[in-house]
Amino acid sequence: MSDLSTDLNNLREDLKDELLAINHYQSHIDATDNPEIQKQLGHIRDEEKEHVAELVKLLRQLDPTEDDKFLKEGI
Ligand SMILES: [Fe+2]
Repeated sequence: MSDLSTDLNNLREDLKDELLAINHYQSHIDATDNPEIQKQLGHIRDEEKEHVAELVKLLRQLDPTEDDKFLKEGI
């Protein structure tokens, strides 16, 4: 059984990994001249961006302080 604090910590770790994955794919896109690789990795990179949005949404739902900070930024 998990508690909220553990869940939030794990979600933040997941969010960090998704952000790192975006940078990882982008660096490989930048390193190749092959347009097919650029296209496919660009698609995968953009899926990771969707995962970031999904995790942020979940964190906002579970952490009222986090949600408040986004609201203060107009997001
Ligand atoms: Fe992902």
